[in-house]
Amino acid sequence: MKQDRILVLDLGSEENSRLAREIRALGVYSEIYPHDLSKEQLEAMPGVKGIILNGGPNRVVDGVEIDASNAVYLSGYPILCVDHKGEPAWPADQNERMNALKAFVFDACKAEANWNMENFIADQVEAIRAQVGDKKVLLALSGGVDSSVVAALLIRAIGKQLTCVHVNHGLLRKMDANLIYVDAVDRFLDKLQGVADPEKKRKIIGAEFIRVFEEEARKLEGIEFLAQGTIYPDIIESGTKTVKAVKSHHNVGGLPEDLKFQLVEPLKMLFKDEVRACGKALGLPDNMVYRQPFPGPGLGVRCLGAITRDRLEAVRESDAILREEFAKNGLEGKVWQYFTVVPDIKSTGIIDGKRSFDWPVIIRAVNTVDAVTAEVAQLDFGMMQHIVDRITHEVSGVNRVLWDLTPKPTGTIEWE
Ligand code: XMP
Repeated sequence: MKQDRILVLDLGSEENSRLAREIRALGVYSEIYPHDLSKEQLEAMPGVKGIILNGGPNRVVDGVEIDASNAVYLSGYPILCVDHKGEPAWPADQNERMNALKAFVFDACKAEANWNMENFIADQVEAIRAQVGDKKVLLALSGGVDSSVVAALLIRAIGKQLTCVHVNHGLLRKMDANLIYVDAVDRFLDKLQGVADPEKKRKIIGAEFIRVFEEEARKLEGIEFLAQGTIYPDIIESGTKTVKAVKSHHNVGGLPEDLKFQLVEPLKMLFKDEVRACGKALGLPDNMVYRQPFPGPGLGVRCLGAITRDRLEAVRESDAILREEFAKNGLEGKVWQYFTVVPDIKSTGIIDGKRSFDWPVIIRAVNTVDAVTAEVAQLDFGMMQHIVDRITHEVSGVNRVLWDLTPKPTGTIEWE
């Protein structure tokens, strides 16, 4: 079945995701689009019931005033204008805001609350079958939540036409798993040697991933599609016309231009919590679905600046200790994401009575619903001290631990 949808047009607001999520919370599907949607684009979209023009103060982007295209105004769909100067004004109170939204979505647009995971899965299975036909698909399976859910969805849709490949790019967490993987550690680290700029690092990792997959696909023959666990925040944060890129997610802005595959990205319109709900609905076990997220570029974005093998090892070892201690304290699955970062700076310290000049480890532990905003997890101070003690004594090259207490915004969850 095709779902009803409400379009959120981005006229310079910083709260497009929040609005889309609020509409989805009402059971109605919503997507974010640029302000200048064309007539053709509008006509090609199924199920549109209404449009919200979501502007910032005065709808100004980079000093230039913007407006929706004529096609939008002439579309005949109910339109709600939210820009602090038009009517109706947007209520500050959350209950009133949701009531105003309900009135628009259900009364003005007559949308049906038919957005749920069963329908989503049924639609995606149909869409994947239509896209892929009898061809073969290669899935970049990292073992994280998103790619595992994509695997489950693809197996349901096309079964044996799917082959999963796990690439060890040398930037992975320590893990005990039976995985068939391509060992590409050296080629990734060689390509990254001396590269300190975070955006360049992400792009190199993204491009190298694709090269490895192309090589694997050639060995398998007949692979035309590459499936990825891209999710909606990856796309939103990689930038739209009016929203500046926060960072290039390796699977979106980091893709090479001469990509030889067609992409299959069934989760690209889902927020993280919806990906988990999808995984649950597909019958995946909790320990897979509620696993904490791990960025595609791996520990590469946690070994700040130019990556070196010894500092990467310090990230990996400290991360393993942190995860072990959180598990021991029953925090696994309770704190949304926690990890360590090692910057490329050194400070003076004392280890075993001797002067040391070593790196600090930064610890970040955050809670969030959808990774778009996040708050710092409040933790037991005794546990924090124990972790500091273990990391400074067990991880070589480290003499200091810093705890990151910055919410998102202003800091993103990852450091790069
Ligand atoms: P940020 O740092 O953008 O992170 O606040 C939000 C969430 O996304 C994860 N993350 C990524 N995931 N590819 C991914 O698959 C990426 O390039 C990437 N960058 C960040 C991050 O770990 C957090 O959960």
